[in-house]
Amino acid sequence: MTLDTPMSTSRDRDFGLSRDQIREMRRSYGEQGLAEGDLAADPITQFRNWLAEAALNPVIVEANAMVLSTVDDQGPQSRTVLLKEVSDLGFSFFTNYESNKGKAITANPHVSLLFPWYAMERQVIIRGVAEKVSTSASNEYFSTRPWSSQIGAWASSQSQDLESREHLQNRYDEFAMKYPEGTPVPMPPHWGGYLVSPRSVEFWQGRYSRLHDRLIFTRSGSGWQLARLHP
Ligand SMILES: Cc1cc2nc3c(=O)[nH]c(=O)nc-3n(C[C@H](O)[C@H](O)[C@H](O)COP(=O)(O)O)c2cc1C
Repeated sequence: MTLDTPMSTSRDRDFGLSRDQIREMRRSYGEQGLAEGDLAADPITQFRNWLAEAALNPVIVEANAMVLSTVDDQGPQSRTVLLKEVSDLGFSFFTNYESNKGKAITANPHVSLLFPWYAMERQVIIRGVAEKVSTSASNEYFSTRPWSSQIGAWASSQSQDLESREHLQNRYDEFAMKYPEGTPVPMPPHWGGYLVSPRSVEFWQGRYSRLHDRLIFTRSGSGWQLARLHP
């Protein structure tokens, strides 16, 4: 990006919050607790229950959005992706296998997923191991995506430097001509899903005086062990 582009943005004006204003940004959490007896017997069922509650909550946007963290030789990196399937096997999302996250997972498949349902004073943190789903499973999901998203998957070399917006648009237009709307679009070879098999799943519920509830399921053989953590 060149820095000599004429711009009139809020960067020129001081709309910033002061340090004290930022420090004062806090809210008290509610009385809705999370007891061991409230939980389902396994974290996947419990997760499904909380996801359904989040999806029904009109204040939560994109309840299936989760922050995926990976680690590569530059250190950790986080970004949002959308959960597309949850089963007893784990949590699935789709992306470009040649993106930064794809390369990081190849080098180190240990990842974290975080669901930030702040409006419900909840978060879920999953640690686990990511692996590619089968090509047929990726194909099956790819075929359900809107045509424009399918073309976008061809057009974008996700995470690579892009010389201009126009270049991306031209690539999009080329693939839109190659695979016209209404005809089947093949899945790009660099695109597909990952399944994260959970090793631990923590359910966090905000409580008064910062005495939050944290209940964590950890894999133990073929089952799960439940523990409570200090907030
Ligand atoms: C709400 C939201 C949902 C997103 N969902 C996806 C997704 O499902 N798959 C994906 O590859 N990128 C998704 N993105 C974009 C990623 O956050 C990220 O910018 C992109 O995948 C490149 O990440 P990387 O360079 O770290 O690999 C989403 C972004 C947001 C804000």
